[in-house]
Amino acid sequence: MSTHDTEGQSDVEFFKMFGVVLGALTLFTAIIMVAANVLDADKVPGSMELERLEARLAPVGQVRLSADDPAPMAAAPAAASADEAKAPEDLVAMACAACHTAGVAGAPKTGDTAAWQARLGERGLEGLVASVINGRGGMPARGGSALSDEEIAAAVQWFVDN
Ligand code: HEC
Repeated sequence: MSTHDTEGQSDVEFFKMFGVVLGALTLFTAIIMVAANVLDADKVPGSMELERLEARLAPVGQVRLSADDPAPMAAAPAAASADEAKAPEDLVAMACAACHTAGVAGAPKTGDTAAWQARLGERGLEGLVASVINGRGGMPARGGSALSDEEIAAAVQWFVDN
């Protein structure tokens, strides 16, 4: 009899405990749901918030891919034409001097008039320009540069003249 009583009591204890745990879990779930809502409300930006956010995330400068809005482009063409007007010696310094100053890999040296005249005599100016554009021996096409045909021609002319 007493054992049954004890068992009955531990059942009651168990259900009490179970109830407490269940209640605690339910409360915990409710708290989490409320907390999630509160935090979410903070994070979902209103339109004002969004504007400020976009302003903060905006890049410092922008690359323009079209001239739809000409005003901010005003400075660009000047820069481009300055690029185009590069002096031949600048082109050479930029793209050719690395090999031709020291005569790397058998490159005719800058100022070695005999060497340049010999090549000029063999192929003519057009031929020399073509050699650079297409590459020749140890010289990659265009000397490995992105110079235009005109710039290459100007640089070759400079080599021949110097
Ligand atoms: C990576 C090194 C290198 C660079 C950079 C380079 N050259 Fe050369 N260049 C050479 C070499 C090596 C030769 C000799 C090729 C040969 O005849 O075998 C040569 C030859 C030439 C010739 C003579 C071609 C001929 O037909 O005889 C010209 C003209 C010339 N270079 C111009 C240029 C110009 C202009 C540039 C810059 C745009 C340039 N090179 C950049 C290595 C270079």
